[in-house]
Amino acid sequence: MPPPPLPLRLPLSPLFSRLARPVPMNAYCSPFAHLKRHAAAIPLRTKVSGLLVGISALWFTAQSHTSRTITTHTMANKTFKLNTGADIPALGLGTWQSAPGEVKEAVSYALKVGYKLIDGAYCYGNEDEVGEGLNEAFASGIKREDIFVVSKVWATYTTRCELGLDKSLKSLGLDYVDLFLVHWPLLMNPEGDHDKFPKLPNGERDIIHSHNHVDTWKQMEKLVATGKTKAIGVSNYSKRYLEQLLPHATIIPAVNQIENHPSLPQQEIVDLCNEKGIHIMAYSPFGSTGGPMFKAEPVLKIAEKHGVPPSAVLLSYHIPRGSTVLAKSVTPARIKDNLNIVDLDEEDQKLLRDYSDNLVKEGKVERYVYPPFGVDFGFPDKS
Ligand SMILES: NC(=O)c1ccc[n+]([C@@H]2O[C@H](COP(=O)([O-])OP(=O)(O)OC[C@H]3O[C@@H](n4cnc5c(N)ncnc54)[C@H](OP(=O)(O)O)[C@@H]3O)[C@@H](O)[C@H]2O)c1
Repeated sequence: MPPPPLPLRLPLSPLFSRLARPVPMNAYCSPFAHLKRHAAAIPLRTKVSGLLVGISALWFTAQSHTSRTITTHTMANKTFKLNTGADIPALGLGTWQSAPGEVKEAVSYALKVGYKLIDGAYCYGNEDEVGEGLNEAFASGIKREDIFVVSKVWATYTTRCELGLDKSLKSLGLDYVDLFLVHWPLLMNPEGDHDKFPKLPNGERDIIHSHNHVDTWKQMEKLVATGKTKAIGVSNYSKRYLEQLLPHATIIPAVNQIENHPSLPQQEIVDLCNEKGIHIMAYSPFGSTGGPMFKAEPVLKIAEKHGVPPSAVLLSYHIPRGSTVLAKSVTPARIKDNLNIVDLDEEDQKLLRDYSDNLVKEGKVERYVYPPFGVDFGFPDKS
């Protein structure tokens, strides 16, 4: 958004009033042009003063622009600390539903323009191509140790976590990932009729309901010593599931990756995770495919106020919350745009908080990602 016209009626003595006409915004150089036109007829003292007026005008203009643009900046180098001591970038590129033929380019482009975190999963079925994108970037000089790679053990592998990790590493072409997560806390039949989505003869999902998710965590803990992952964490854990897990955990999860945006604040989980030193990774910040969150009223209002797209508001929302945010795109211009965040002031944050609080109060929160497992994961809006 352009800055407003400059109020350039400067307090000048009558001697200089010829030069002190209001200067329109689109005429940064007009004081100089003005000075040149009248140069011959004007005494030296007036010329010098006029020059000073011109310089002042330029300075004010520059200040006005600076104060407008300084609020947006890049997310590229912002990081948070994990409970392992490692840094985790504040922004990551999501790869769910990034189609083959698109995702290699998206990953490689994202790393080229400054992303440092790539979020993937075995279940997304595209880790081979994500790996190609990563390796293309590494071949171009980006260092492996500067990039944070996330993968997740899928539900048919939650009794075979190391196998799940090995498969992901092979696809990605990596020796290790930086973070390995339990994708969802359940077990689907590892000997069922499908590697990822086994079904019973009646068409229902083939889920082993007797499985205890704490047993999966015990397997995850053993992976750290293998060096195949630097950290372990969970995903889609409700407060209830975390409370079941934590008393048995030798290693506290480094991360809980959950759906999070102003229409699904999940504040009770965020608060518990903050208290326990578990970092939140917020997924589906735009409300997933189609970006329904772009139309939320306070998001539009804040976007207009700062002169930024709604996407920047939705990504920036997570910074004061201390969370990493994952944005999926296969569109180069959007991948680049999504690096830009804006400093949300207290008024903006309150607007978003009030919006969230009202939705919670009225029981109208929106959860956009909820696979039909038929399992009660303990989320208040879904149980
Ligand atoms: N742990 C889990 O269970 C879980 C679940 C869901 C997601 N995740 C992770 O979180 C990531 C992000 O979530 P998500 O994929 O559900 O959805 P999202 O990032 O909220 O939204 C993605 C959608 O927004 C579009 N988009 C991206 N940037 C945009 C921009 N600046 N302007 C307009 N549209 C834009 C994308 O389109 P284009 O791609 O066509 O540009 C895509 O349709 C996933 O990819 C995945 O890595 C994890």
